[in-house]
Amino acid sequence: MSQEHLMGVYNRAPLEVERGLGARLWATDGTEYLDCVAGISTNGLGHAHPKLVQAVKDQAEKLWHVSNIFRIPGQEALADLLCEKSFADVVFFTNSGTEAVECALKTARKHHVANGQPERIDIYGFDGSFHGRTYGAINAAANPSYTEGFGPKMEGFHQLIWGDKAALEAAFRNPTTAAIILEPVQGEGGCRATPDEELRWMRQMADETGVLIIFDEVQCGMGRTGKLWAHEWAGMTPDIMAIAKALGGGFPIGACLATTDAAKGMTVGVHGSTFGGNPLAMAVGKAAFSELSSPDTLAHVNEVAGYLKQQLHGLQQRFPDVIVDVRGKGLLIGVKLVPNNREFMGWARDTQQLLVAGGGDNCVRILPPLILTLDEAREAVERFERTCEVAREKMAAAS
Ligand SMILES: Cc1ncc(COP(=O)(O)O)c(C=O)c1O
Repeated sequence: MSQEHLMGVYNRAPLEVERGLGARLWATDGTEYLDCVAGISTNGLGHAHPKLVQAVKDQAEKLWHVSNIFRIPGQEALADLLCEKSFADVVFFTNSGTEAVECALKTARKHHVANGQPERIDIYGFDGSFHGRTYGAINAAANPSYTEGFGPKMEGFHQLIWGDKAALEAAFRNPTTAAIILEPVQGEGGCRATPDEELRWMRQMADETGVLIIFDEVQCGMGRTGKLWAHEWAGMTPDIMAIAKALGGGFPIGACLATTDAAKGMTVGVHGSTFGGNPLAMAVGKAAFSELSSPDTLAHVNEVAGYLKQQLHGLQQRFPDVIVDVRGKGLLIGVKLVPNNREFMGWARDTQQLLVAGGGDNCVRILPPLILTLDEAREAVERFERTCEVAREKMAAAS
């Protein structure tokens, strides 16, 4: 067994994971790890959550797949739940985040066609954003390292500098703008949160200009920030939203949510998916959603996140030579480092058995399952602290 027959698109850590339970993972050699990656914000309920395991088992014995040419009761039920707990009126189910983003982009352009304004094709994204790997998604994020080498860039996609309000206002006022797409809290980009007042201002601008707001809450949604949706902190809503990751608790599901008005162009035959919204995915999605959207889960996220943030700020004071900044929202925490983040991740993994994810701007992301207990959070902080000590020793030895 080797990676010889896998496309070499990943730089994988030398860790073979065999099983998981809650916030713990065990490698094939028996080593136990504390998982503060959670499948990059995906295993919101941790590993092998009994309710999710049961949901898979029960549905697997009944029906896996039928095709969207038939009614799928589980799909209707999950769509009802999502609409009840969000701004949305309608949902399209996908199998991944990038497909949900793709649907969001198509929905936005079709909206303007339905309004008799087909010239409104421009879509503005932000630097540091990540929306997935389909052509639409890479063009929307417009990160050169993901778009280069794939032929001409798609027409109508533009990148704004995050925080450049004047450029954003010009984008809103451009008569051919269809939509602005952003993550309310950037994930891959290093846990940068757009200020609440700016999100509210964007809503006003959108209402004034007819531009649609697409939120990509694939990573920051589903309770990760301590509210079900990250934009709830700002007290405003988007027109369209892509979600995925924790929606299935680790089972592949994504969804594009929209208001009736935003989705007015999405009529029969305009879009589709073979697997999107299949009965198996929907059964797991329903089970995961009812846990993740519960007030208890969200209160727990806020408690653990508050503790972690406070402790990490304490570590920043004690290790100013290692930690530059602690940022993010809820349990989407970015720690900007002095040493190389990739090296730091390796030290955390190999010396402390603590798994953290990488991120832009030389951050490591701390993205534990939302069910991480306070005791486990304490353990994570202790392991992080020891990793800072290791980093200090390594940097001293190298200088
Ligand atoms: C914010 C955001 N959008 C979209 C995606 C793409 O999701 P997927 O990998 O499921 O296609 C990701 C994945 O990391 C993400 O973080």
